[in-house]
Amino acid sequence: MERGAALLRVRARASGRDRAAESESSSSSLREERLRRHTGRSGYGGGRSAPLAGQYHSSDFDYEEHALNAGRVLLEKERGAGGHGWASTAEEVAERVVEQGDTWERFHRKVNSTARFFKEKRYILQEFPGLLDPTTRRVCEFGCGNGSSVVPVLKGNPAAHVTALDFSPSAVEHTRRAVEAEGFEPGRFAAMVRDLSSDPVDEADAMAGTFDAVLMVFMLSAVPPEHMDKVLRNALALLKPGGRAYFRDYGRHDLTQLRFPLDQRLGGGHWYQRKDGTLSYFFDLEDLKSRFEGAGFACGEADYVCVELYNRKKDEEMRRVFCHGVFVRPELN
Ligand SMILES: C[S@@+](CC[C@H](N)C(=O)[O-])C[C@H]1O[C@@H](n2cnc3c(N)ncnc32)[C@H](O)[C@@H]1O
Repeated sequence: MERGAALLRVRARASGRDRAAESESSSSSLREERLRRHTGRSGYGGGRSAPLAGQYHSSDFDYEEHALNAGRVLLEKERGAGGHGWASTAEEVAERVVEQGDTWERFHRKVNSTARFFKEKRYILQEFPGLLDPTTRRVCEFGCGNGSSVVPVLKGNPAAHVTALDFSPSAVEHTRRAVEAEGFEPGRFAAMVRDLSSDPVDEADAMAGTFDAVLMVFMLSAVPPEHMDKVLRNALALLKPGGRAYFRDYGRHDLTQLRFPLDQRLGGGHWYQRKDGTLSYFFDLEDLKSRFEGAGFACGEADYVCVELYNRKKDEEMRRVFCHGVFVRPELN
């Protein structure tokens, strides 16, 4: 009896070991499979070494399915918080959202002052081939940050002149330096400080109606929702009839939204505040289209970009969701 029991225990231990070995080998083959799938891929960061062609990924997973699961995760999180913890009334939101110009200036002065932070966003040339078209001569970037989009546009389109705008003087300075470091002719570039959500562009503005393209890369998500309309109307006013606004920003149910602590949420919607005071809004396509159309644009393209990234160290897959859009200023009748 005892021997039998002992044997059973040994067998149980052995089969436990077998299972452990089995699951170890299946998890290592899963890891290998993940590594194989993710090696050499691009689609999101597009840093200096990112490939320009062939390996670009933009639809790694089904958005609807992801949104369903992610929506459940968000709901669970809310239930766990018992409906409390974030700024829900207009007064609470106003109290938290202080002057964004100062907040971004602090960010660019501190965080953004190292060359290490600078990564060319070369993927925008793939996302927006119109930027490479030789007829796209005058490009304006809204919220240029440190110049990570301006530089690839100047490199990719030798016919382009780029005007970079940002309300942070340090951002404008970083962009100017990044452009100078590449040695472009000074005549191809201008940069200036401008608050795009408060100073309306009118007909007296020398830049009104002069641009073939306005580029907005992770800019609108940094603007309080009630001011987004002003930014979009300014973009429309700066474009020539037929000119295009190229848009890339955070999409609803992006990994970074799911990771935001609930107490950083603003107004009960899909809007959050980072610890440094800057804002992050997560767009869905209907919301995005209605904002652009409400400002007078026609929608050319609007889509989710779904990119699965892989963290080798943590052996973790991460689902990033971005919104892609091309919006057109209608021709005059
Ligand atoms: C998230 S960063 C993106 C920077 C850059 N486009 C990029 O993709 O790296 C947002 C940028 O928009 C600028 N910005 C935010 N609101 C603005 C406004 N109302 N007028 C002008 N610039 C603004 C900020 O200073 C910041 O440089």
